[in-house]
Amino acid sequence: MIAVILVGGFGTRLRPLTYTRPKQLLPLGNTTLIEYMIGRLAEQEFREIVLAVGYRPDTLKEVLGDGERLGVNIHYSLEEEPLGTAGPIRQAEDYLRGSGEFFVLNGDIVSDMNYQQILVHHRYHQAQASIALYRVDDPSRYGVVDITSEGQILAFIEKPPADTAPSNLINAGCYVLDESVLDHIPLGRKVSIERETFPLLCEKGRVYGWEHKGLWIDTGTPSSYLEANKEVLAASTNQSHRESPPTHHGPVRRMYIGPTSSRNVRYLRPYWKGKDTIIGNDCEIGPNVTLGRNVTIGAGTRIRDAVIFNCVEIGESVVLRNTVIGQGAKIGDKIRLEEFQLVGDGATIYPGAIVPPGARIDPGTDFR
Ligand code: GTP
Repeated sequence: MIAVILVGGFGTRLRPLTYTRPKQLLPLGNTTLIEYMIGRLAEQEFREIVLAVGYRPDTLKEVLGDGERLGVNIHYSLEEEPLGTAGPIRQAEDYLRGSGEFFVLNGDIVSDMNYQQILVHHRYHQAQASIALYRVDDPSRYGVVDITSEGQILAFIEKPPADTAPSNLINAGCYVLDESVLDHIPLGRKVSIERETFPLLCEKGRVYGWEHKGLWIDTGTPSSYLEANKEVLAASTNQSHRESPPTHHGPVRRMYIGPTSSRNVRYLRPYWKGKDTIIGNDCEIGPNVTLGRNVTIGAGTRIRDAVIFNCVEIGESVVLRNTVIGQGAKIGDKIRLEEFQLVGDGATIYPGAIVPPGARIDPGTDFR
C-alpha cells in the first residue's frame, strides 16, 4: 500500500521553531514527528511512502534518506510552490497511477489509527474517497462533515461558524482515495482538498466517513505539540533515562566538561534524555520532558511538560514548563518560562530577563 504524506507546510503557528526546520522534524521523545508517523505506517505493512515536500526538503532528506532504516521506500515529490492539500496529490500521480487506491495523510498528526480498518470500510462501501473522522467538542476550527447514519458524507464544511456545524465529526487528516480522484484535482496549481476536492466529490461521488476513536492530536500549535510529546513519551515502552543514540537532531557542536554524576536529581516519568546530556545537582526532570543530546542543565533547575532540543545550555535554578527550547539556545540562571514561550535555535535568554507569556524568541537573537 502507498501513502502520500503532506509535509510541505510552513508550520507558521510553531514559529520560530519552524523557521529552521519543517514541523515534521520536531522531536518527540527519541524520535521526530515524521519518523513516528512513518514508523506506524511501516508497522501496518505500508512499504511505499511519497513525501510531498516543499519547505526545507533538504532537512527531511538528511534525516530520512531513502527510508531503509525505517523499513519503507521513501519517494520525494518536490513542489516549487506550495500546492495546498490536494495539489501535491496530483503532482505525485506518477507514483499513484496503477495503485487502484492509496492513502493520504496530513504530516502533523499523532494518532494510533488502524489504517486497515479504514481500508476495509472504504472497500465495503465501494467509496471513491473515505475520510477518517474524529469527534470533538468544538468543531469550529476544523473541517466538519454532514454525514448520514450509513456513513455517507453529504457535505464537507471547512471551519463552520460556531453553532452551525452539522455534526461534531471533523476531518482527521487521513484519507483513502480511489485512483480516479486524481482526475478531479487540477494539475499545476494550488488546490485545497478541504475546500475544493471534497465538496466536489461529495456532490458527484461516493464519499464515506470512518470514525477513529483512539488517540488523535493535531500537533500544529505549541500546546498540541507538547500534548503530542507527552503522549508519545507515555506510549513509549522505553521510558528510562538510559541514553541511546537518538535518530534525529543535527550535529553535536560542543562537548560539556563537568561532573559525570549528579546528586539528588529527581526524575518523573515519562521523560526522554538524549546521549551526553548532563544534569546538575538537585534538579527535577519530568514528567513529560524530552531532553535532546548534549544538553547541559545547571543545579537546582526544574523542567516539566517541555521539549529541549540538542545542545541547549540551561543555567542554574531555572524553571521550564509548557515551553520549547530550540537547538543550541542558552537559558540564563533563574529564568522562568512557563507559559508557552518558544525559543528559537541559538537564541540566548540572559539572566534577569522576563519573557512574556506566549513570547516567540527568534533564532539567534539575544533576549535581555
Ligand atoms: P500552519 O502554517 O501553522 O497552519 O501549519 P501548516 O503549514 O503545516 O498547515 P496545516 O497545519 O494546515 O497543514 C496540514 C498538513 O498539510 C501539514 O502536514 C502540512 O505540512 C501540509 N501542507 C500544508 N500546505 C501544504 C502544501 O502546500 N504542500 C504540501 N506538500 N503540504 C502542505
